[in-house]
Amino acid sequence: MKVKHKISGLVRFILMLIFLVIMYSAAFFITDYIYKILDWELNELLNQIINSIFGLILTGLMLSIIRKIALSKGWMRKRDAFGTIIEAVERIATGDFSIRLDDDDIHEHYPVAKLRESVNKMALELDKMENMRQEFISNVSHEIQSPLTSISGFAEILGNEELSLEERQHYLGIIRIESKRLSRLSDNLLQLASLDAETIKFEPEVYHLDEQVRNLILACEPQWAVKKVEIELVLDKVSITADKDMLTQAWINLINNSIKYTPEGGRIKIELYQESKKVLFKITDTGIGIAEEDQKHIFERFFKTDKSRQRSKKGNGLGLSIVKKIIDMHHGEIEVDSKLGEGTSFTVLLPVKQ
Ligand SMILES: Nc1ncnc2c1ncn2[C@@H]1O[C@H](COP(=O)(O)OP(=O)(O)OP(=O)(O)O)[C@@H](O)[C@H]1O
Ligand SMILES: [Mg+2]
Repeated sequence: MKVKHKISGLVRFILMLIFLVIMYSAAFFITDYIYKILDWELNELLNQIINSIFGLILTGLMLSIIRKIALSKGWMRKRDAFGTIIEAVERIATGDFSIRLDDDDIHEHYPVAKLRESVNKMALELDKMENMRQEFISNVSHEIQSPLTSISGFAEILGNEELSLEERQHYLGIIRIESKRLSRLSDNLLQLASLDAETIKFEPEVYHLDEQVRNLILACEPQWAVKKVEIELVLDKVSITADKDMLTQAWINLINNSIKYTPEGGRIKIELYQESKKVLFKITDTGIGIAEEDQKHIFERFFKTDKSRQRSKKGNGLGLSIVKKIIDMHHGEIEVDSKLGEGTSFTVLLPVKQ
């Protein structure tokens, strides 16, 4: 498109140059002829000036005639700034977000230039959102597809009457785990959607954070007790103004991760401190750890450190993105510190008052 414009511009320029030369020559010969007929003797400068003026008038006339003919025949496109922008907006409305208006497409004057810039920005943002939407759909389909494949595969195997009771229990166990994973995926997706759309009301209240954390650890006892994970709590008495339900979800996701990614017999320590205007929550485990290059991605939706998805049975990669969203809504910060094979700690800083 750009190359086509450049070629047609060049052709127009060459044509104009040729006409200019013809017009100047014509003007020169005509005036020269008139002078000869009238037998005038003007000095050279005057002669040149008259020649030039006459030549320019003729050139202008000729060019405007040529332009009119070229426009009517469609050899030339009228430079219509608003027309170009309207055309672009119409294409965007039909879902073509790849459109970008070039500087030379339209005149560069305010507010036209500003409008062009805004149209380009809008198309770029829509393009990005469309890519994110497609990536999201493909991630969701993958997360649905893999447990479903296991469930249908093992259900098929269970149809075999020669299976021992032990084998049957094993396959049923896998089906149960995969079903739970599907159900958690649906819960997490719903939660993210309502956090994004802000349909969940942000309702801060004053409450004791230390009590909340202690109760959650007790509620998770079946998970950590079965893995013989040792829990250490160092909890200051902390009163905070925050959305209790949202923070419950954030702490549960962090605690569940620590339990999930810590092998049997490991340790988890949870600390809660009140600083001058902030509250510090820290959860440290002696689990598998997160590689440095993965640490900057763990808050992204669907990100799992295991690329081969071998461990994907353990989750869908949404938990931490929900945590991050909730902490952001509280104007807080979350940081990760981890060493592969040694353990991980997540630190959350929250303002005391919302
Ligand atoms: N405490 C931890 N120790 C080691 N790796 C962790 C820890 N917490 C998170 N990760 C890594 O970060 C990834 C993203 O965590 P996230 O909680 O978002 O997803 P998930 O646990 O895989 O699934 P779910 O959506 O069920 O929470 C995990 O897949 C895991 O690889
Ligand atoms: Mg998780």
